[in-house]
Amino acid sequence: MKFSIRALAPERAKTACLVLGVFKGTTPAQSELTPAARRADRAARGALRAVLAKGDLSGRAGSTTLLRQVTGLAAERVMLVGLGAKDEFTENSYRDVIRSVANALKELGVREATVYLVGHKLPAHDLAWNLRQATLGLRDAFYAFDQLKTEKKGPPPALAEITFALPAAAVPAAAGRALREAEATADGVALARTLGNLPSNICTPGYLADEAKKLARQYKLRLEVLERRDMERLGMGALVSVTKGSHQPPKLIALHYAGGAKSKKPVVLVGKGVTFDTGGISLKPGAEMDEMKFDMSGAASVLGTVRALAGMKAPVNVIGVVPAVENMPGGGASKPGDVVTTMSGQTVEILNTDAEGRLILCDALTYAERYKPDVIVDIATLTGACVIALGHVVSGLFANDQKLADALRAAGDDAWDRVWQMPLHEDYQEQLRSNFADMANIGGRPAGSVTAASFLARFARKQRWAHLDIAGVAYKSGREKGSTGRPVPLLVRFALRHAGGRAA
Ligand code: BES
Ligand code: MN
Ligand code: ZN
Repeated sequence: MKFSIRALAPERAKTACLVLGVFKGTTPAQSELTPAARRADRAARGALRAVLAKGDLSGRAGSTTLLRQVTGLAAERVMLVGLGAKDEFTENSYRDVIRSVANALKELGVREATVYLVGHKLPAHDLAWNLRQATLGLRDAFYAFDQLKTEKKGPPPALAEITFALPAAAVPAAAGRALREAEATADGVALARTLGNLPSNICTPGYLADEAKKLARQYKLRLEVLERRDMERLGMGALVSVTKGSHQPPKLIALHYAGGAKSKKPVVLVGKGVTFDTGGISLKPGAEMDEMKFDMSGAASVLGTVRALAGMKAPVNVIGVVPAVENMPGGGASKPGDVVTTMSGQTVEILNTDAEGRLILCDALTYAERYKPDVIVDIATLTGACVIALGHVVSGLFANDQKLADALRAAGDDAWDRVWQMPLHEDYQEQLRSNFADMANIGGRPAGSVTAASFLARFARKQRWAHLDIAGVAYKSGREKGSTGRPVPLLVRFALRHAGGRAA
């Protein structure tokens, strides 16, 4: 899908579908036309108002109605979309509106459309924000994962071109840049979604390494892939222990995007890449176990973010590190009570083989030290406890540096891919006490997501480090089951803001 932005009088837009916003009034007749809609209505001698007066549009955010062949307008069709009440127009309503428009355009089957919605600014955001949200929302709605179905639902959606239009006003220079950023981000989100959606018999650790290879080739990036023997040589006893029950060879992937000055220390993103989490010998119950194919969503978000930043030529240095393994039971698998030595030298008693994410991440965090990172952020579907605490709205944020935490929260608010900070007091470390090793890999029922983060914190003491627990946000269950691509939008925003710049 191609996106562009231009200043254009709505009555003159020669388009298959002209999309105009309408704020809800106390009665449909009292709906308030947005400036572009007002202008179009004037050119059409009141044809839009007449439709509203008949009550054809509820005005609720995301409601739509369609008019054809309106005299006075160059467009073939007009789609009126309700924005909700003007004084209740929020980020969520803007996003709902975009999603509804996307679905209505999909239904309509037009090849292109001209959309007058990005001019409706929210108090806390600028035009660039609206453009990013609209682009990501449209691309998200048109994303399909049907490569494993033999019978496609029908022809692929026709929509190929979207023009975001502003009535008359000139287009600021920053708008084009925002669009390119958003398109590259959407590419990253799509990659993350597809990797997440692929089943574990296809998306194995080796598959993730191959995907990194493709990115390295496409964007000319440096790539390292460590094999099991490399991990053993480096003393990554925790990482290797998780993979012992599996027939899939583990991979430790490091993908380097160097878009910033050589002197700039990199942002290192570490993504949990458990391509399937059975729980191991501490086997998970059967219900919804299929969803554990999404346990590599952190890894997918890291690869998606690198793709986005490379695609937009962002002036940042980012290294994506992905420990990729499959967690299986088997004759060689780790057993509860086993003690392993991590690359840091600290020993861990594996009391539960289902707490495997922290075991692969701890060695990846130690490995990341060699890059002398400015900051490290790990991203992981780490705990069910985080889902209980925060649900599916925000990611759990933990950090040993408050500035870094604030920067991530701000980036999340900006991207509308939000996080909520959780505690990380030393007091929680007590729960990880072990009689037989330096620490246990579980901390009991209370504060499960906090003790998981506290475990990781022991391997990031020398670093400015943050951890995002994305167990609740990375994918949806039920009818809508599928990967969301979160938190790619957050990570891209964070990297760009961290560099203090924008895409080139
Ligand atoms: N991958 C799971 C966490 C998870 C659970 C993600 C549900 C998404 C939805 C992780 O490896 C895990 O199994 N964690 C255990 C930790 C426990 C054994 C301390 C959990 O959350 O139950
Ligand atoms: Mn697990
Ligand atoms: Zn897991």
